[in-house]
Amino acid sequence: MAVLLYSVYLLLLSLFQTVNTAKSQSFIGINYGQVADNLPPPSATAKLLQSTTIQKVRLYGSDPDIIKALANTGIEIAVGVANGDIPALASDPNFAKNWINSNVLPFYPSSKISLINVGNEVFIFGDRNLMTNLLPAMQNVDKALQEASLGGKIKVSTVHPMTLLKQSEPPSSGSFDPSLSDLIKGLLEFNNATGSPFQINPYPYFAYRSDTRPETLAFCLFQPNAGRLDGNTNIKYMNMFDAQVDAVRSAINSMGFKNVEIVVAETGWPYKGDGDEVGPSVENAKAYNGNLIAHLRSMVGTPLMPGKSVDTYFFALYDEDLKPGPTSERSFGLFKTDLSSTYDVGLSKSTETTPTAPSPKPSVTPLPNSPLPSPKKGAWCVPKSGVSDAQLQANLDYVCGQQGVDCSPIQPGGTCFEPNTVASHASYAMNLLYQSSGKNPWNCDFSQTATLSSINPILSCILQVAMVVLILVGTPDRTI
Ligand SMILES: *[C@@H]1O[C@H](CO)[C@@H](O)[C@H](O)[C@H]1NC(C)=O
Repeated sequence: MAVLLYSVYLLLLSLFQTVNTAKSQSFIGINYGQVADNLPPPSATAKLLQSTTIQKVRLYGSDPDIIKALANTGIEIAVGVANGDIPALASDPNFAKNWINSNVLPFYPSSKISLINVGNEVFIFGDRNLMTNLLPAMQNVDKALQEASLGGKIKVSTVHPMTLLKQSEPPSSGSFDPSLSDLIKGLLEFNNATGSPFQINPYPYFAYRSDTRPETLAFCLFQPNAGRLDGNTNIKYMNMFDAQVDAVRSAINSMGFKNVEIVVAETGWPYKGDGDEVGPSVENAKAYNGNLIAHLRSMVGTPLMPGKSVDTYFFALYDEDLKPGPTSERSFGLFKTDLSSTYDVGLSKSTETTPTAPSPKPSVTPLPNSPLPSPKKGAWCVPKSGVSDAQLQANLDYVCGQQGVDCSPIQPGGTCFEPNTVASHASYAMNLLYQSSGKNPWNCDFSQTATLSSINPILSCILQVAMVVLILVGTPDRTI
């Protein structure tokens, strides 16, 4: 019976996994920069992207060849308006209308343009004229979209540098530069009214460059570290990405816009630099990007935005060989121009555990040699030692708050209620989520509080999981 039970259990897990795999990647995007003279043709790039779990592409401009090549791929496209066009867009609604007519209408909807970024890091240049024109330019682009019956279907936003923040540590004290607060308030009102995201470029890489202690590197790379306590909230941050994003969250909240969504328009780490540059290496770049992808896929979120992943556009698709500055500036590419990976960060569809049940996304064809998920050594997700009860409780709350996850066995009267400790209950819940969401390493992340183990901490309760699944879903074979 146990064997049969277990195989039904595995089958059901693979069903859940299919659903999770299909919906859990929408937050992974990539920046397609073109300051280069050696890029592969857009058609080859479109194929490359389709072989990955990347769902969103951000262009800095609106190259029609790229937009066309991405038609009917299902990949969402963010297009960009040049900073130089902002004054004309702001003063002339017809300029905005013409921009939409020539850069959006010919391609939409087969090319899934979902966002127009008006300008890029406008606030970095200190050009007051450009800064004051930004909001009216965005408003005119939005009006032009409404006139073309695309209002709300395509959002209008802009991308901000982290330097917009006057203060970012600790994260709860995040606040904007007061000299810009009128302008920022106007932009946030626009985001709030139109449902468009507030976009920001956090780079833990730059934070490390200004503080090169080993513990800072570990904090930036999502590696084991002591964490940093935010004394105002008593939240212990375990990585720089969460800390930077939550600093932005606090700044936005302090202006009263709790509902405005944050999108990470750029983040990344260079894999190569000059001899005198500290930080760039294949090892560090792979650790940062790979661990961030795992962190996003875990759906743990940040301490101030738990249970969901911030849409994140990685920087970048390819190296841009014509960029000025140190070697690192030309070495952010996740892919080489021959379409091979610079290093593996687990974005390829074929490296994922392939669903065995009928997939809701028919374009994802299971590989012929993909095995059934099988119980193997190291197959249990357990809390790391030394993790605080507060963190375990957060994990427990998160897992048991998920739809379709049944935590009744660890509630009073449940089979796994005893021992009644946070550690035991969290251990059960974290493993339950890991088992039912694909058993990928990134399903056992929990903001770096979990690890894979070959030792099942609560064996009797694992069978209980199978029973619960069976009772919930039912089975045609009632004889077991
Ligand atoms: C944000 O938008 C909502 C709905 O449109 C509105 O009720 C609310 O007052 C706005 N918030 C701010 C701070 O303007």
